[in-house]
Amino acid sequence: MDRRTFTQLFTLAAGSLGLMQAAGQAQEQDADDQRNAKTGNNLNARGPSSKAVNVEDLRQLAKAALPKASFDYIATGSADEITLRENVAAFQRLRVFPPLMKGVSDADLSTTALGQKIQLPVLLAPVAVQRMYHPQGGLAAARAAAGAGTIYGVSSSVGNSVEEIAAAGNGPKWFQLYVPKDRAVARTLVQRVERAGYKAIIVTVDLGEWKDADQRNRFSLPKEMLVKHLRDVGYDQITDRMSYEAVSEFNANAWDLSLSWEFFDWLRGITKLPILIKGVLRPEDARKAVSMGLDGIVVSNHGGRRLDGMPATIDVLPSIVEAVGGKAEIYMDGGVRRGTDVLKALAFGARAVLIGRPYAWALAADGEAGVARVIKLFREELLNAMVATGCRKLSEIERSLIA
Ligand SMILES: Cc1cc2nc3c(=O)[nH]c(=O)nc-3n(C[C@H](O)[C@H](O)[C@H](O)COP(=O)(O)O)c2cc1C
Repeated sequence: MDRRTFTQLFTLAAGSLGLMQAAGQAQEQDADDQRNAKTGNNLNARGPSSKAVNVEDLRQLAKAALPKASFDYIATGSADEITLRENVAAFQRLRVFPPLMKGVSDADLSTTALGQKIQLPVLLAPVAVQRMYHPQGGLAAARAAAGAGTIYGVSSSVGNSVEEIAAAGNGPKWFQLYVPKDRAVARTLVQRVERAGYKAIIVTVDLGEWKDADQRNRFSLPKEMLVKHLRDVGYDQITDRMSYEAVSEFNANAWDLSLSWEFFDWLRGITKLPILIKGVLRPEDARKAVSMGLDGIVVSNHGGRRLDGMPATIDVLPSIVEAVGGKAEIYMDGGVRRGTDVLKALAFGARAVLIGRPYAWALAADGEAGVARVIKLFREELLNAMVATGCRKLSEIERSLIA
């Protein structure tokens, strides 16, 4: 066969492969519709998110769907957004070196997280005020995570009570704790989390958001959301009858912003649930967490929403993995936008990643269907990346894949 004929045939084949893929996608969508009709699931497989092919598409949809102040609240970072940009840029700087001819055409994406079987190593990070992005808020996110077989990290500030979220979907959930100053309230909250069947507690320790966009937009929660939030946490003295100023002032003083390591002794004393610390960037802090018997570490800079100038999480991940030496599970978040980013994080030793903005945008764009869509996109991209690098299972994703 001469070279021209070969090229034509190849191009034709590639073209028909594209058509076959499109036909396959249409069939898959019909199957999704039928499944949803049968299960009474309120997923709309033909909703706005169904055409999104990547996270950026979902970001655009969210931008069109949300008022500017709400969109900016999700999307922006603190101060000059150095850390926000670095989280993404650092992933993009890493190169993947696929070994050839490994005979791999499919891969198993399942793993465990603190002993819990999950279907892919992508978890939903705790994200606040989700009812502001979609009326179903955290309830929709809980259902989508359950449907995809992954863990939903539920923010203390999600906008629903721990019980409401637990009732929404029976998938595994971790509760992210912002610590109420009133330790009696904190204790009761932790007990409620246990009773509601959550599998672990994430304590977020990087506190204090400082975002220019929010100041410029005079971003603030509607009174109804703030009142419900405080009452959901257990501050029963807050009522609708209070003025907005009074509720805001109460909120400003309700949280413990001066945590120290002893807090974990207190928490360990009141719960048997596994405990993770979120916000670790320094190896010595990771070692301290291990020495205190914590079960997991989330390497995080809060998605660039806290102190600007902190390093990209993927850049510090290897040093944390080395410091911990397998004595606790290590997770990371910040800037994960592609399946290849998940591959890179796992190659550097993360057990799994968490995504924040990607699913917040998806939720805003299309509720439960949007969140289901973004998880599916990560699943497909990671599968593709694993097949291309010859990895049959997650444990085969090795450090040597990444330059
Ligand atoms: C809108 C928004 C709200 C957030 N709220 C919380 C929160 O309540 N608690 C928390 O621990 N982290 C919160 N985070 C941080 C995320 O858990 C996560 O660390 C971060 O989003 C990861 O970066 P990414 O957005 O680049 O994926 C929030 C992030 C966003 C975008």
